[in-house]
Amino acid sequence: MNKLIAPSILAADFGNLQRDVEMVNESKADWFHIDIMDGVFVPNISFGMPVLKAIASHAKKTIDVHLMIVDPDRYIKTFADLGADLLTVHYEACTHLHRTIQAIKASGMKAGVALNPHTPITVLEDIITDLDLVCIMSVNPGFGGQSFIENTYKKVKQLKQLIVETNANTLIEIDGGVTSKNAKQLTEAGADVLVAGSFVFKSDNPTNTIADLKGICN
Ligand code: DX5
Ligand code: ZN
Repeated sequence: MNKLIAPSILAADFGNLQRDVEMVNESKADWFHIDIMDGVFVPNISFGMPVLKAIASHAKKTIDVHLMIVDPDRYIKTFADLGADLLTVHYEACTHLHRTIQAIKASGMKAGVALNPHTPITVLEDIITDLDLVCIMSVNPGFGGQSFIENTYKKVKQLKQLIVETNANTLIEIDGGVTSKNAKQLTEAGADVLVAGSFVFKSDNPTNTIADLKGICN
């Protein structure tokens, strides 16, 4: 399968947001990864609806929204209206995860669940066939530019096995600390989508860096 690259806009230059969105449009990237943080679920606040609206008005690729917020059910319809194609909520933030996933789908979006580094894959056993995507956090959520947690490889393999065993149609996304050094090993372990923030936007030539990542994985 074609492995996908999703640059994380969190690491873009917000003073030149349109320029960076156009760069992703013209690059070999597949998706836009959009991190929404509320300062409660994670110890940081990123940006909210007006900024996502501005991104969506220029973005020509799939918009993958990663909610790092408590009680995400309150905003499902809002994110659908803003143009999110895929909405990912955190397992740790959802008391009634099954209900939340069904609500996301009923709003016309694809539904994903993200797992913090300490959360085992096994918690998804009874919901995996309902999920379009599982995002394995390879850093503690809240900030870009952190170091990749090596235990992630093991989790990718476990998740891949669960998906195969249950015949689920679920993409595996990796988020945090992705670079050209770990991209190949991650996709070989079963990852389908690689999110990359700092590695792309802090590089000298983000367009080429995206192409390099795409080439390494495919
Ligand atoms: C972290 C975010 C990530 C972040 C990744 O909480 O979910 O998407 O932007 O940034 P890098 O690639 O710099 O680790
Ligand atoms: Zn993210």
